[in-house]
Amino acid sequence: MTELASGSTSQRELASESTSQRNTESITVTVNGHAYTADCEPRVTLADFLRHTCGLTGTHLGCEHGVCGACTILVDGRSARACLMLAVQADGATITTVEGLAAGNALNPLQEAFWDNHGLQCGFCTPGMLMTATELLADNPDPDAAEVREGLSGNLCRCTGYDSIVRSVLDAAQRMRG
Ligand code: FES
Ligand code: FES
Repeated sequence: MTELASGSTSQRELASESTSQRNTESITVTVNGHAYTADCEPRVTLADFLRHTCGLTGTHLGCEHGVCGACTILVDGRSARACLMLAVQADGATITTVEGLAAGNALNPLQEAFWDNHGLQCGFCTPGMLMTATELLADNPDPDAAEVREGLSGNLCRCTGYDSIVRSVLDAAQRMRG
């Protein structure tokens, strides 16, 4: 019993030693206009940093290897897979996540168009769709349906609601052109 107790104490000591020896780097990122500074292990993905350190769980994780697009965010204005980037790589960057699209409770025109055109079913892919579409419409304010389909081709919807998603983006484009 004593040996077991002393064995478990040394395991705790070892665990605590290895924790204190962990490498961390201090990083600062600006997300949706707010600066976040935190000590971060180099292995932490940007998606996990946003979700767990910043508390911004709107960025979803599906495949976690760059295929589904659910984790898409904007880094310095360009779309990026947050599951494929390390948080330390984003040090100093300006990031927009889906939480940054609305102004308080007021949805932006793209979000409104998704709402009005039933552009989501379960909603899991929606944050990534919205962020990819944000970049698409910034680059091409008047896309046709084929261009929207191509622009969204890196985002997978497991509910297969692609028609209504494409309709939503086209409607948003029209609203934004005024
Ligand atoms: S979770 Fe990043 S691409 Fe699927
Ligand atoms: S709405 Fe369900 S995954 Fe796209």
